[in-house]
Amino acid sequence: MNTEPPPDVKERIRASYNAMANEYNTWTERHHHLRLSYLNELLSRCPELTSQAAQEAGVVLELGCGAGKPFLDTLLSRAPTVRAHANDLSDLQLDLARSNLADCKDRVEFHPGDMTRLDFAPGSLAAVVGLYTLIHLPQGEQADMLRRIGGWLRPGGVLLANFAVDETRGTVFENWLHEKGWVFWSGLGKEGTLEALKGAGLDVEKAEVEGDEEENFLWIIARKASS
Ligand SMILES: C[S@@+](CC[C@H](N)C(=O)[O-])C[C@H]1O[C@@H](n2cnc3c(N)ncnc32)[C@H](O)[C@@H]1O
Repeated sequence: MNTEPPPDVKERIRASYNAMANEYNTWTERHHHLRLSYLNELLSRCPELTSQAAQEAGVVLELGCGAGKPFLDTLLSRAPTVRAHANDLSDLQLDLARSNLADCKDRVEFHPGDMTRLDFAPGSLAAVVGLYTLIHLPQGEQADMLRRIGGWLRPGGVLLANFAVDETRGTVFENWLHEKGWVFWSGLGKEGTLEALKGAGLDVEKAEVEGDEEENFLWIIARKASS
């Protein structure tokens, strides 16, 4: 299938995750090890995030953070001076994240809504993370979102995100994981994504296709040039 997104794509995705958050979060537990292994990579490439010396290690934004597990809760416990912005379009997902991150609530600011409406000061973020979420943006919004991320990252800051492996204008599933689980995915494909990262001023340090027999994603670690 290769279809254009409907005009109300964001509202429909929001409604879907409000309906199926619990089903999705249980289903995706099988992918937790991959998220945590990339969290390890992020921390090893950004030692300042866990530095004992730093009074404040930096600010990390997670786009489409879902229920805040296992990425944000693990990050915040391993990096005790990091502060986080947690964004999600789904009210239910963000409520679950508020509950799952309650122990660190003084270090998290929640941002409900569409990630394309977020705004942060230029150069203010140490890292931006987007796992299984940028795929929900229409193809035409993905490169623009990457440019915005490139602007928010501080020099040397890192993006960790995954993308569709193949180029697709749009794929729709009417009942993914739930009878109300309407979902839309799109992707620029590997070459298009690498091109968009370059256009966003981000140098790709790692680009790997990872997954299992059911599905694969293009996992990216990219860094904003230091000067
Ligand atoms: C497949 S889930 C991934 C959740 C989490 N990142 C994880 O790794 O489990 C996609 C998430 O992205 C959110 N989402 C979809 N489109 C979004 C948008 N335009 N802005 C912010 N969040 C969005 C959904 O509500 C959902 O929680």
